[in-house]
Amino acid sequence: LPYYLAALAFGYLLGSIPFGLLFTKMAGHGDIRNIGSGNIGTTNVLRTGSKKLAALTLLCDALKGTTAVVLIGFFMGNEAALIAGLGAFLGHLFPVWLKFKGGKGVATYIGILLGIFWPVGIIFIVIWIATAYITKFSSLSALVASLVTPFILMAFDQWQIAQMMGLLSVLLWAKHHENIARLIKGKESKIGSKG
Ligand code: G3P
Repeated sequence: LPYYLAALAFGYLLGSIPFGLLFTKMAGHGDIRNIGSGNIGTTNVLRTGSKKLAALTLLCDALKGTTAVVLIGFFMGNEAALIAGLGAFLGHLFPVWLKFKGGKGVATYIGILLGIFWPVGIIFIVIWIATAYITKFSSLSALVASLVTPFILMAFDQWQIAQMMGLLSVLLWAKHHENIARLIKGKESKIGSKG
C-alpha cells in the first residue's frame, strides 16, 4: 500500500503544476482565470490570442500525465502506473496550490492514455479532431472522445485500463458541467473565438 500511495503522490505533484496559469502569467496576460471561461487549459489559453502559449500548455499538460505513467510504470510496474495516472489527473483537476480549483483534464487525459496504451491515445486524438472539425466546440469534442474511449479500450481487451480511464472520463464530464449547460443552451463559444 505505501507503494501505491507513493505512486499516487508522485502523480499528484506532477499533475498539480498549472502550466496554463504559469505560462500566461509569465507572458504578461495576467491571471488566465479572469479570461474567457476562466479555465487554466489550452482552449482558454487560446483566448488570450496566443497560439504558441496554447500549444505549449497542451504539450506540458499532456506530458505531466505521460511522465507520471511512464516513469512509475518503468520503476514500479503497470498497476502503479495506473495509480500514478490517476494521481496526475487528480492533481490537474484539484491542485492544492489553486485551492483545489484546477483544469478540466483533457490534455492530461490524452497524455496518460498515450503513456499507458498509445494506440487508443491516437484514436482519442482522431475522434477529438474529427468532432472539433465538424462542430468547432473544444468541450464537445473532449466529451465525445472521453465517452467512447473506455469502450474502445474494452474492444482492445484492456479491461483494467478501461476501468481507470472510465473513472477519469466521469471526472472529466463532471468538470465540464458548465460547458454542457452552455452547449445545451447554444451558448458555448467556438474554438478560437474570444467568448
Ligand atoms: O477541454 C477544455 C475544454 O474542453 C473546455 O475549455 O475553456 O472552453 O471551458 P473551456
